[in-house]
Amino acid sequence: MSLLITNIAELTTQDLDRRVLHRAAIVLDGERIAWLGSARDAPAADEMFDAGDRAVLPGWVDSHTHLVFAGDRSAEFEARMAGAAYQAGGIAETVRATRDASDDELRRLLTARIAEAVAGGTTCLETKTGYGLDVGQEARSARLAAEQVDQVTFLGAHLVPADLDADEYLDLVCGPMLRAVRDRVQWMDVFCEEGAFSEEQSRRVLATGREAGLGLRVHGNQLGPGAGVRLAVEFGAASVDHVNHLDDQDVAALAGSWFGWDAATGTGQRGTVATCLPACDLSTRQPFPPARALLDAGVPVALASNCNPGTSYTSSMGFCVATAVLQMGLTISEAIRAATYGGALALGMDIGQDQDGGRAVGSLQVGHRADLQLLAAPSAAHLAYRPGMPLTAAVWRRGQRVA
Ligand code: NIG
Repeated sequence: MSLLITNIAELTTQDLDRRVLHRAAIVLDGERIAWLGSARDAPAADEMFDAGDRAVLPGWVDSHTHLVFAGDRSAEFEARMAGAAYQAGGIAETVRATRDASDDELRRLLTARIAEAVAGGTTCLETKTGYGLDVGQEARSARLAAEQVDQVTFLGAHLVPADLDADEYLDLVCGPMLRAVRDRVQWMDVFCEEGAFSEEQSRRVLATGREAGLGLRVHGNQLGPGAGVRLAVEFGAASVDHVNHLDDQDVAALAGSWFGWDAATGTGQRGTVATCLPACDLSTRQPFPPARALLDAGVPVALASNCNPGTSYTSSMGFCVATAVLQMGLTISEAIRAATYGGALALGMDIGQDQDGGRAVGSLQVGHRADLQLLAAPSAAHLAYRPGMPLTAAVWRRGQRVA
């Protein structure tokens, strides 16, 4: 079945030329985009949807979430808002609650969280393990996540469980735990930070992930300066996430990692995307990352929700976009690009085939996956102009209306 969505006031494509079309239309054919252009030239289709002179843009690509968990840490949040500092140790509380939950309960919680994200315009999701921290529990998290999201990241190296020594625990992460999750995950990640894993330990995790043929991601430079960015670039990680505390060398290293990359053809050496998580920064009262400096240096930036119970209990990408514009100095167009194409780039889904045989996401182009959202507004600028308002009017994922 094909669907013509017409009477679009503003169509933000996020294609390579960053075209924004006015009085536009788009045709979805099955799971893919078959045509887009001026409404007056639109071809016929099996069905028609009137966008009502409102704005259409790609669905959000949320490239960093931790959705497989049980429990609640609102008391920790409340204490933080009263002045306590964020400490990675809070992760252990979620590990306890997650281990105690049944498969059905965890599956139900995950489904509900995905539904919330989709209702806010998200059409492509990555999520991580990391609240199991033993072989059986991490394998279960990976299995449940793989049932429901686009891409899964193995984050066994999230925190050292209290009953183990760090090196002993890493023997487990890099051995039996990795083998237990290997078939369900595309990525391996490490939380490289004081209180989590040191530079040397992170290096071991990344080398093991690479050897296992997984793509790499790094949680880095979140709570203070550190080796995260440097390691991510050295190992060719697809993304380094948080990036709150960067120096000029970190920015230069990220920019240099894209040298020779040709976005149009997807050829050349892919570099490391800097993924900013502004909802987390607000919830932990960390300084925002230097996103303006990163973009000015030529570093591709992604925006993601980091939805998790400790540092960022929201999956609202609209909120992240508004914050990036209002607080981080991004233009509306840059923030939308970071939350769509930037996320796709961070997941290697910007071009060609994705890993389940689907298509590229994050930009509206013929042949790409038909993932898009209609706003209850005439232009995408309203996302920051009317922050916090419920602006998602309709969402299509793989050509199907999902909200
Ligand atoms: O991305 N930084 C590490 N992991 C999560 C927080 C996890 C938690 O506190 O539960 C994050 O912010």
